Amino acid sequence: MSVDVPAGLTDLLKGYTLEVLKQRPVDLLEFAVQHFTSLRERRNFTIRSRSPVTRGVAFDQDSAPTDEEEEEEHGEEEEEEEDDFPDDFTFKAPLPSKCNRRVSVCAEAYNPDEDEDEAGEAKVIHYKTEAQRQRLQEACRDILLFKTLEQDQFTEVLDSMFEVLVKPHDSIINQGDDGDNFYVIERGVFDILIQKDGSSCCVGRYDNKGSFGELALMYNTPRAATIRAVQEGALWALDRATFHRLIVRNNAKKRKMYEHFIESVPLLKSLQVSERMKIVDVLGMKSFRDGELIIRQGDSADCFYIVESGEVRIMIRSRTGAGQRSGPELEVARCTRGQYFGELALVTNKPRAASVYAAGETRCLVIDVQAFERLLGSCKQILKRNIWQYEQQLVAVFGSSVHITQ
Ligand code: CMP
Ligand code: CMP
Repeated sequence: MSVDVPAGLTDLLKGYTLEVLKQRPVDLLEFAVQHFTSLRERRNFTIRSRSPVTRGVAFDQDSAPTDEEEEEEHGEEEEEEEDDFPDDFTFKAPLPSKCNRRVSVCAEAYNPDEDEDEAGEAKVIHYKTEAQRQRLQEACRDILLFKTLEQDQFTEVLDSMFEVLVKPHDSIINQGDDGDNFYVIERGVFDILIQKDGSSCCVGRYDNKGSFGELALMYNTPRAATIRAVQEGALWALDRATFHRLIVRNNAKKRKMYEHFIESVPLLKSLQVSERMKIVDVLGMKSFRDGELIIRQGDSADCFYIVESGEVRIMIRSRTGAGQRSGPELEVARCTRGQYFGELALVTNKPRAASVYAAGETRCLVIDVQAFERLLGSCKQILKRNIWQYEQQLVAVFGSSVHITQ
């Protein structure tokens, strides 16, 4: 019996199977719905983008034509699309041609004006249920790379992200590979492994928050580390093309904005220009209202801060007779523009030694712990220099000698 296999069917199923093998979803049916919905949205969007009126405009699901309307409107085009459907139909966003070019590990100068072609690229939208969207928004709330995006850019990032479920021992990223996606952690613990002299060394761990995989996409370099799941978890991935179009473009603006300020920060003076630029690429910016708590004494640390404008008060809770730190808070120091705070817990691997409050409207640059380790490792000695000052401040305020590192 001869069976006519409809054109495109094999490739559609192949594409789905490959994604299943890659992402290992728990619920195959739910994943199939997401996968094929996303393919249809991309196809519709590509067709709509070809019309001169809608080119480059985000796909509006509410006003999207039904399939029947689409057929009427684009009868011929649709048929054409069906014909070449299997050839260019991949779930992943296409890599921009420039991404095939390898550059050195230095902070590559990026000129957004050269990137006109990427701006016109079709936008990728992955359908999400309301519950998924809420989980995604929560996971992305504190991602520093997203902190300096405009609201509409941030919405576009959320639209483009897709869920990846992982099992224990899954390698999400392999050191040396080319970069495909940037990942935000929704839940799960992930080891950071670096291969050196033939052996693999665990240099850090993500614990149910944070993000990784930005370096290879930003600088077009091989993956700098392996990221392996310790337990079952869930990630949100952003494809390389969208990362380039939104985050790397935004970094070019950030470099212009913070270039001079960063040069003037005493802590960063000893770094090379390319190292300073790398810091700008990964930093976030946060504004605080007068009196707002920035750091709470005793909390665990995941970032440090540089004051961009305004002022902060460093407060330490005194000890009661029983030796507990539950007495009133006393001010031990202030930091103003160009000064940093919140480094001590990162340098000593201890809980926060003080609470920090905004004194008036304050803006701070924020650098997360992994970037701190990677980029400011060379500043660690400089960062340790302040510790004796802290100890002296404590003697002045509390009248007893204190060893901050103990
Ligand atoms: P990328 O090189 O794209 O892929 C591996 C990721 O591991 C890297 O981006 C960083 O996001 C993350 N990472 C965390 N700590 C380190 C580290 N010490 N060195 C290199 N990469 C790290
Ligand atoms: P960290 O312990 O991470 O968080 C609180 C920060 O307050 C601390 O890092 C220092 O950067 C800053 N700080 C300033 N003065 C002091 C002080 N006398 N003792 C402790 N921390 C101080």
